Amino acid sequence: MNLQRIVLDNFRNHSSTLIDCSPGINIFFGNNGEGKTNILEGISYFCLTKSFYAANDSVVLKIGSPSFTATGKILSDSGVEYEIQVEFDRELSQKTVTVNKARVDKASSLIGWFPVVILSPEHNTITFGSPADRRRFIDFVVSQSSRIYLESLIDYRRILKQRNKILSEMQTTRSENIDAIEPWNDSLIRVGSSIMKKRKEFIEDFRGIMVDAYAQLSGMGERPGITYSPSFEYAENNGDVVETSFKKALQNQFSDERRIGYTLVGPHRDEFIFQINGLHAKNFASQGQHKTFLVALKLAEFFYLKNRCSETPILLLDDVLSELDEYRCRRLLEAATNTGQVFITSTDEHALDGLSVASANPRKFFVRQGRIERVEDATQIN
Ligand SMILES: Nc1ncnc2c1ncn2[C@@H]1O[C@H](COP(=O)(O)OP(=O)(O)OP(=O)(O)O)[C@@H](O)[C@H]1O
Ligand SMILES: [Mg+2]
Repeated sequence: MNLQRIVLDNFRNHSSTLIDCSPGINIFFGNNGEGKTNILEGISYFCLTKSFYAANDSVVLKIGSPSFTATGKILSDSGVEYEIQVEFDRELSQKTVTVNKARVDKASSLIGWFPVVILSPEHNTITFGSPADRRRFIDFVVSQSSRIYLESLIDYRRILKQRNKILSEMQTTRSENIDAIEPWNDSLIRVGSSIMKKRKEFIEDFRGIMVDAYAQLSGMGERPGITYSPSFEYAENNGDVVETSFKKALQNQFSDERRIGYTLVGPHRDEFIFQINGLHAKNFASQGQHKTFLVALKLAEFFYLKNRCSETPILLLDDVLSELDEYRCRRLLEAATNTGQVFITSTDEHALDGLSVASANPRKFFVRQGRIERVEDATQIN
């Protein structure tokens, strides 16, 4: 897909910003706090209907304004034009999403139409951080490629909350209310198993793409590995095996769950293990290897989504140029701009100096106090 125009009104510190984008590389330069990341956040709003980091819409609203809009004009790979607009009204506390002026009832139904791959400093936790950080990454990728998966996740969260509530009551009252928990066990197993099957299938597909992406970036003989490690053991995935093992695991854990008041097994406790040459990356990888792994994950995400969504994703790189060395940086940009469109933020006007990306129609935007101050087209960034 090609993002042709971005319009932000009363969005963070952007009162009224219009950006005509290059189909290749778009770079937003500016000092700290000028509103560069806010532009990427705006893109995230009309592509994913929400921020890629802020939890709620009201913080995005320009202070003192009654409403904001983030609008994107997108040309799909198949040549269809879309205008997607997300509007948030403070007084009604309501978010409205429209595609070509037609209202979208369920915001989640838009996920996957306009795929986005985001790399920002917070993503370092994917390789360094807790299992929850890796689950969030995997869920984000799979959700963009499968509506059913996204709906299952939403459903699972609801079921888990209810089940935990009952367990918490049992903990407080020191009782054992089997009748109350049974129906929730069944739902947890049904929806949870479908998530687990999809995760397993995803990792099988993604592994090979990741190996290729890593080789493209590192150019060395290192080999990355990704393993799915569910919260309970189950044999090969055939028929009802996951469901049966899930049920057994719940039975085994029930007394502990009652004691501590929450659910101990299920996809919310799954882990994904990242390895380099067979060693656990979290514990053994060097700083540079962590970076390579993370960028390779993002590149693999790009190719996976391109394939699965039948739409080339756009790549958003927030403040990552200074973190990556030049070699990795060039490889990433080459790989992404060969097929897609990239949006980069940087405080360093010279961060891309010497990087010949002539084929990518680079366009430089200088951002100051929530405005585009200057635009430069450059075939050679310097
Ligand atoms: N709701 C809001 N209303 C008005 N201004 C806001 C709002 N939220 C954030 N800002 C302002 O936006 C600016 C931050 O924008 P942004 O995060 O895009 O900066 P940046 O250019 O990416 O900076 P850095 O280089 O430090 O990452 C700050 O000046 C902040 O005060
Ligand atoms: Mg920023």
